[in-house]
Amino acid sequence: MPLRRRLLVLVALVLALCLVGGGALTYWYGLRKVDLEMSSAIEVARSAVGEALLSVTSGTDSSAQVQRIVSSFDGDRHVLARLLAPDGKVISASHLERPTDPPPEWLYRLLAGEPRSAAFELPAGLKKFATIEISADPHNEVGEVWEDLKLKFLIVVSFCAVVLTLIYATLGRALRPLEQLSVALKRVGDGDYTAHVSEDGPEDLKVIYQAFNRMALQLQTAEQQNQRLNEQLSTVQEEERSEISRDLHDDIGPFLFAADVDAQAIPLLISRSESDEVVERSKAIRQSVQHMQVHLRAILSRLRPALFIDQGLAIAIEHLVAFWKARRPNIVFTTDIEDARFPTGIEEVAFRILQEGASNAVRHGRPAAIGLAARQTSDGLLRVVVSDDGSGIAAEGTRGFGLAGMKERVASLNGRLHIADREGGKGVMLIVEIPLPKNKKENQQPLATSAA
Ligand SMILES: Nc1ncnc2c1ncn2[C@@H]1O[C@H](COP(=O)(O)OP(=O)(O)OP(=O)(O)O)[C@@H](O)[C@H]1O
Ligand SMILES: [Mg+2]
Repeated sequence: MPLRRRLLVLVALVLALCLVGGGALTYWYGLRKVDLEMSSAIEVARSAVGEALLSVTSGTDSSAQVQRIVSSFDGDRHVLARLLAPDGKVISASHLERPTDPPPEWLYRLLAGEPRSAAFELPAGLKKFATIEISADPHNEVGEVWEDLKLKFLIVVSFCAVVLTLIYATLGRALRPLEQLSVALKRVGDGDYTAHVSEDGPEDLKVIYQAFNRMALQLQTAEQQNQRLNEQLSTVQEEERSEISRDLHDDIGPFLFAADVDAQAIPLLISRSESDEVVERSKAIRQSVQHMQVHLRAILSRLRPALFIDQGLAIAIEHLVAFWKARRPNIVFTTDIEDARFPTGIEEVAFRILQEGASNAVRHGRPAAIGLAARQTSDGLLRVVVSDDGSGIAAEGTRGFGLAGMKERVASLNGRLHIADREGGKGVMLIVEIPLPKNKKENQQPLATSAA
């Protein structure tokens, strides 16, 4: 059942309960009212008839006097007086005023109560002639309760109708944005993160709409970043492949060729007994092989830089610096790396930041010097700094994946990333602070891991 209808049914139920409660109260009140009215009416009538009978004198008009007592109740609303013959026949009766809107029979039966009556003997001389009987008739009283009940019922029913209409209209207005929200949620569920809901409505719902819009925006940003990441990933892979093939070609190819030439020459030189030359060629072959080993190691270190993290941040950074020095001999690298072990996740993130920071500095800043630092601070943070004296970040610089990736890595460790101008000059200073676990032992890696 829709929420709006469910709320309406709930309110209607509460109102119906109130109506039933009100009905029960009115019934109880009516019962008491009829009972009180009837008993007091019969009492008043009883004393009136008693007094009137005292003044009846025996004589020729004594029967007329008795008739007058009976007819004195004409028009009474609650008491009926009757003159009864000894055989029970009604000689005369007063005229009881009837209610204009008689109550229904069921209500009369519910409220009428016990019949009340009183009989009076006539004074001596008339005794044998007849008796006067008065009886209470609750029709008029029940009629009043009936009128009252109808009026109250009308008022309560009109009140309920107004309340339900108001609730229906208000809920309709208040819940309209929720319908909007469910449509928007469905769109998000189908992968359309451009969904947006208008942020007006009741205060408490407004918070939900704002949260939804923020969520959709973040999903949209994450999706765009994902797309960029995928595009860049394939570009980076392409670049890396061509760089590796270039390195293999330029750094390994010539030495392989040289070793091949030297190896081919050796049999000829042996046949000519030129042993000195054979020794020289052998040395040259070894040299070529050693060069190839060095270059192969450099290529491997680029392919698997994380390999050195197993040996600690300080060693990994040494390899990183060696890698760049081989390619940019003009840049002066300074390092200040804590020679301690930190939890694996933290060491890896710190290494990635130093690696990307150095790469950005070399690629974009054309600096003369690059500084790499990673030190534990007195307030339990690992402070990683990459600084260069290059051109600085251009205002119109492109947005790559490097900085975004750094931010994500740092955020995953509840750390902070800050990019500032280098102190006292041009260049960039990238500062990252990562909280270290409180327990000192956690900072230490097991010996087996560091040796691995
Ligand atoms: N040290 C720096 N000196 C000068 N400009 C920098 C430096 N670091 C970053 N930038 C600027 O910030 C931009 C964003 O850097 P980011 O690392 O996010 O992307 P990228 O290096 O261009 O590409 P990617 O890292 O994804 O291959 C760079 O394009 C560059 O313009
Ligand atoms: Mg970059």
